[in-house]
Amino acid sequence: MANELLKGKRGIIFGALDDKSLATKVAERCVEEGASIVLTNAPVAFRFGEIQKLAEKLNVEAIPADATSLEDLENLIDKSMEILGGKIDFVLHSIGMSINVRKKRAYTNSKYDWMQKTFDISAISFHKLMQSCYQKDAINDWGSVLGLTYIAAQRIFPDYGEMAESKSLLESFARSFGYHYGTSKKVRVNTISQSPTMTTAGGGVKGFDVFFDYADKMSPLGNAPAEACADYCVFMFSDLSKYITMQNLYHDGGFSKMGMSPAVLDLE
Ligand SMILES: NC(=O)c1ccc[n+]([C@@H]2O[C@H](COP(=O)([O-])OP(=O)(O)OC[C@H]3O[C@@H](n4cnc5c(N)ncnc54)[C@H](O)[C@@H]3O)[C@@H](O)[C@H]2O)c1
Repeated sequence: MANELLKGKRGIIFGALDDKSLATKVAERCVEEGASIVLTNAPVAFRFGEIQKLAEKLNVEAIPADATSLEDLENLIDKSMEILGGKIDFVLHSIGMSINVRKKRAYTNSKYDWMQKTFDISAISFHKLMQSCYQKDAINDWGSVLGLTYIAAQRIFPDYGEMAESKSLLESFARSFGYHYGTSKKVRVNTISQSPTMTTAGGGVKGFDVFFDYADKMSPLGNAPAEACADYCVFMFSDLSKYITMQNLYHDGGFSKMGMSPAVLDLE
């Protein structure tokens, strides 16, 4: 259902890896709502060819950029403004990866160079991206920057490992940069805390299938699907959410407010 909510807006979308990626759904919805976008992902992700297929389908450009590289980010921002014909109105940071989790290293035996790499990819990249945009004055007044996060930033989910700290850092960067970007350029910055979703990054967490069902039962509305996350992102990029900034917004079917659910204990 298209309502031209993003008509005339220009955006950059990070993190579309395949058809399951949250960023893929967001990109599709943004184009449906009339936005002009550029897709981007790490150069290694371009080897799979899926992002090029998505770009072709949406009739948009895809530019490789490692989100930990300032040089790549600056090139991406310059090229995006050139391709889209002006300053940017919205940016989606949909990037996450934990080296210690991927290599099945116990949290209590973490390798610190891997941990630093994890923080760089999953959280510091958000600051780097905003700082690069800020210094280039690349985002229009009332623009909207979003990062995707998870409730492990606030509560313990043991198998999420160092991604928990990555998400805490990501959410903190949203608040801090949101202050600076808001006061000087009227740009808003928020994070959306999404339900577990079956994607490549999600599936990398041990026991994800079982956990997905648990979260689904715990949430009065059930887990929020990727398509609904895309709808929420469209709203946050649109002028309907102009005064929301520096927030961590739960998009989780009610999970974050639950203590106990009879559905989980088989009491129903
Ligand atoms: N799937 C879930 O259950 C869930 C829940 C809440 C939040 N999230 C968050 O949503 C975001 C998107 O994840 P997803 O579930 O769609 O999985 P995904 O695997 O499809 O997306 C992760 C993306 O990060 C990209 N990436 C990794 N390293 C990069 C780098 N150096 N530079 C640029 N891009 C890089 C990958 O190529 C990939 O496209 C992540 O931040 C994730 O933590 C996911």
